[in-house]
Amino acid sequence: MSTPTLDVAAIRKDFPILSQVQDGKRLVFLDSAASSQHPTQVLDAMNDIYLHSYANVHRGVYQLAERATSAYESARDSVARFIGAPDPNEVIFTKNATEAINLVAQSWGRQNLKPGDAIVLTLMEHHANIVPWQMIAAELDCEIRWVPVTDEGELDLTDLDQLLDGAKVFAFTSMSNVLGTINPVARLTQAARAAGAISVVDACQSVPHFSTDVAELGADFIAFSAHKMLGPSGIGVLWGKKDLLDAMPPFLGGGGMILNVTTEGFTADGVPGKFEAGTPPIVEAVGLGAAVDYLENIGMDLIRQHEVELTAYAMRTLTERVGDDLLIMGPSEPAARGGVLSLSLADVHAHDVSQVLDEHAVCIRPGHHCAKPLMRRFDVNATARASVYIYNDIDDIDALADALVAARDFFSL
Ligand code: ALA
Repeated sequence: MSTPTLDVAAIRKDFPILSQVQDGKRLVFLDSAASSQHPTQVLDAMNDIYLHSYANVHRGVYQLAERATSAYESARDSVARFIGAPDPNEVIFTKNATEAINLVAQSWGRQNLKPGDAIVLTLMEHHANIVPWQMIAAELDCEIRWVPVTDEGELDLTDLDQLLDGAKVFAFTSMSNVLGTINPVARLTQAARAAGAISVVDACQSVPHFSTDVAELGADFIAFSAHKMLGPSGIGVLWGKKDLLDAMPPFLGGGGMILNVTTEGFTADGVPGKFEAGTPPIVEAVGLGAAVDYLENIGMDLIRQHEVELTAYAMRTLTERVGDDLLIMGPSEPAARGGVLSLSLADVHAHDVSQVLDEHAVCIRPGHHCAKPLMRRFDVNATARASVYIYNDIDDIDALADALVAARDFFSL
C-alpha cells in the first residue's frame, strides 16, 4: 500500500484567493508563518453566523443569542479537542497569541514573581515571548536569563539546569519562526518542572502544522493564534492548567468577567469567563472552530509529512539552483524543522530580494521577523523568509527558485 499524500490540488480549490493572477503570473503565497489563508469552509462558517445567528454571547435569552452562544462555546470545545485539553474551560479566547502571553506575564507574574526572581527565555524567541516578560521583570525587578542558540540554529541546552536553577518561569517557543527549528518541548517542560518553574510555550508556529497534545507536552501554558492556522485574525488562544488559571487574578476588567460588582468592588467569574472581559471575538471563534475542523479533516500527521517533504525539496532545489550565494539558516535536517526557510542572498538586503520576488508574484516576508535578539545572534539585520502550508506544492518552490535566480542575476552576484 502506498503512503498517502496530501491532495494539494484539491485543497487549493478551497482557497479562492490563491487562484488569482498577479501581473500575468500565478500567485505564489509563501508567507503562512506570518498569516495563513482561509478556506471557503472558514469564510462560509463566519458568513453563516453573521447571516443567521449573530447576537452577543452569554447575555441574551432569545433564541438568536442562544445559537450564537452555543456556536461560540462549540468553537471552544473544538479547540480543546484539537490540542488534547482535558477541559474546554482551560481554553481562553484572547485577541491573539501576544495577548495570551501578556495575560500570563501580567496575571500569573504579578501574583507569583518577586524582586530577584529569574525568568528564563531563549535567544530564538519572537518579541511576543520576550517583551511581556521584560515588562513584568522591569516592574518587579526580576532577572532574565537566556538559553543560547548554536550555530546550527538549535537551542544550546548544555547549561540549562544552571539557567533554570531557582527560576520561576521558563518561556520558550515550540518552533522558531525564523529558523524553523523544532524544540524538544516535552524535555524543556520537564526541566522547568524539575526546577520548580512554570513553563509557557509559544506554540504559534507548531499548533497549525503538527499534532499537539498538551498532556504530552507537559506545559503549564501554551499560546497560539487562529490566523496562522487558516482561521481569522483577531483571535488567539491561551491554554493553561485549570488549577493555575483558577488561582490567577483577572487580566482585563469589564463586562462578562464578573460574578458581581458593587460600589465597593467586584467578584471575578470562574474560568474561562474571568479572562474574557468585554464582548469576545464571537464570529472569529466560529471561524477558528471551522479551521480546526478543516485541519482535522485532512489530518495533522499528513500535514506534517507534506511539509517535511516540501521543506526537503525546497532545501535541495534552492541550493542547487541558486548556488553558493544562498544561505538557508537553521537545522540542515528537514525533519528537525518546520516549513520555514530564512534565506540570505549574499549581501543583498532581504527587502530588495523580496521586491524582486514580488515581481514574480512570489510572496515572502523580509525583515527581522520580530526576533531581533536572534538576528543579532547570527549577525544579520534581516532575512527573506519563505514559509509553506497545506496549499503549497513543488510548483511554488520551483517558482521561488526561479525568482531567486532572477534576483541573483539582477544583483549580478
Ligand atoms: N509572528 C509572525 C511572523 O513570524 C507575524 O511573521
